[in-house]
Amino acid sequence: MVKRVIVTHALPGGRLDALAQQCDIKILKGESLAAQSREELAACHGLVCLLTDPIDRALLDTMPNLQFVSSVSVGVDHIDVETLTERNIPVGHTPGVLVDATADTAFALLLAAARRVAEGDRYIREGNWRSETRWSPDFFLGKDVSGATLGIIGLGAIGQAVARRAAGFGMSVLGWTPSGRKVAGVDSVSLEELLRRSDFVSVHLALAKETRFLLDAARIAAMKPGAVLVNTARGGIVDESALAAALDSGHLHAAGLDVFEREPIAMDSPLLRHPGVVVVPHIGSATTRTRAKMVDLAVGNATAALQGQPMPHCVNPGVYPAASSSQGLS
Ligand code: GLV
Repeated sequence: MVKRVIVTHALPGGRLDALAQQCDIKILKGESLAAQSREELAACHGLVCLLTDPIDRALLDTMPNLQFVSSVSVGVDHIDVETLTERNIPVGHTPGVLVDATADTAFALLLAAARRVAEGDRYIREGNWRSETRWSPDFFLGKDVSGATLGIIGLGAIGQAVARRAAGFGMSVLGWTPSGRKVAGVDSVSLEELLRRSDFVSVHLALAKETRFLLDAARIAAMKPGAVLVNTARGGIVDESALAAALDSGHLHAAGLDVFEREPIAMDSPLLRHPGVVVVPHIGSATTRTRAKMVDLAVGNATAALQGQPMPHCVNPGVYPAASSSQGLS
């Protein structure tokens, strides 16, 4: 029997052609998965999805024939992996290939927030740069990056790539990760010490029950006065109201954010009112080459599943009888 696979979004560059030779594909064009007919969902054997598709238990209950889920993302917090694991269904993701692009984004946000790049851009475009405001010794002062201390929360592949970039800027690097992993060139400290000592804090953890609101009001209050927070991981790790309050009170200098508790961010979010907040719309991995590699891994995972093979990049490899090793969330 020909298997039926739903792909929730068109993917670049003919990369689905190989998959289309092995199964019957339906590519959604803007409609949500939940809006598919009951028959369509019931007949579906495989899903290739994005991080914007919530794959929850209610949806899974409508898909009794589902045999795999392959997400074009490294993070899988949009997927109920626990339920899929109970049902012996493998979940694929795309680790490794977005490490450099995401680390570059973290550094771009760190520099932009420290040196007020977005604010300066707005200043000019809004017509405020005139001869009387041309240059003065205290004009547009920012925060030094070179020689400062960077605290990295999460020392997986992306956290380590950020540490390498920080070394190039002559920064001292502190690190904390839930697993206690040690990394060369990174001084491992407790989370509390990291927050107390770091001029810049960059978050590189997966969102899970244990990391939701890890940076809550108390931990944000424990950050070094004048520090900058950068988040390219997941919005749910940082309490946004507490962050906005810490910026408004002047406790923190600035923040650089690629990810938000709710995406797209609400236009009335207090974070958008603060001049020191630099925001971009979840573009950490958004380079042509990186996205092509992510799609290739996701299609590779789906192809393996269709052929009855273990997915090469599976977050719940225990579903296979001879459990293969996970590539980790990085
Ligand atoms: C991006 O946020 C991803 O998880 O791939």
